[in-house]
Amino acid sequence: MDIQVRVWRQQSPADKGRMVSYDVKDISPDASFLEMLDVLNEKLILDGDDPVAFDHDCREGICGSCGVMIDGVAHGPERATTACQLHMRHFKDGDTIDVEPWRAAPFPVIKDLVVDRSAFDAIIQAGGYITAPTGTAPDAHATPVPKPDADAAFEAATCIGCGACVAACPNGSSMLFTAAKVAHLGLLPQGQPERDSRVVDMLQAQDDAGFGGCTNMGECTTVCPKGIPLTLIGRLNNDYRKAIGKK
Ligand code: SF4
Ligand code: FES
Repeated sequence: MDIQVRVWRQQSPADKGRMVSYDVKDISPDASFLEMLDVLNEKLILDGDDPVAFDHDCREGICGSCGVMIDGVAHGPERATTACQLHMRHFKDGDTIDVEPWRAAPFPVIKDLVVDRSAFDAIIQAGGYITAPTGTAPDAHATPVPKPDADAAFEAATCIGCGACVAACPNGSSMLFTAAKVAHLGLLPQGQPERDSRVVDMLQAQDDAGFGGCTNMGECTTVCPKGIPLTLIGRLNNDYRKAIGKK
């Protein structure tokens, strides 16, 4: 496949940034989107140009670092996948593909396609923990967890913190991410001691970081690579209402 990519180039946070077009030739339809960017970067390096900066680590859909907007959609047109798991066969020979960083005020651009997602770290630091005695591991069945609760907690725990939900949301809200983290721990017996303070503190950290509020648009779930459901936001709101009511 021969394609043209229009990539957001921004030298630094202070740079205004602009779209730059590149021709990328002879790409296998089985190549991943990031491999296509690798090919582009090899050419740029050989030509003495600055390669495109983009985040990646696992390239297996599990680390959440590779988020980019592709043709205006978080992680690209396949939806519900990560950019590293998106393959070029979803495009046609001769296509022009736009590649941009996440667009959200709490995720400022560092360079090109790389954004600073440490605002998510602040939310986790506010409540993404449990209190447990350290030392030897407890017996496997010391704390029974009902199977439905274990399954629901596991589903919430699959959130990889990629930020696609924020990038897709017209409000720039991180509610799906925060809801997944709150539910992950709040569904388990080990998460009960901090259940009230967790939801209040994580929502406060979310507001402090500048994320917008949720108005039930649902765009987040359409791009979430892990299928985190909107119902978890309802669960978060319910937990928050109860926690505030106890104050
Ligand atoms: S909720 Fe989904 S889209 Fe949002 S950070 Fe987690 S995995 Fe990514
Ligand atoms: S590189 Fe890890 S999820 Fe894409």
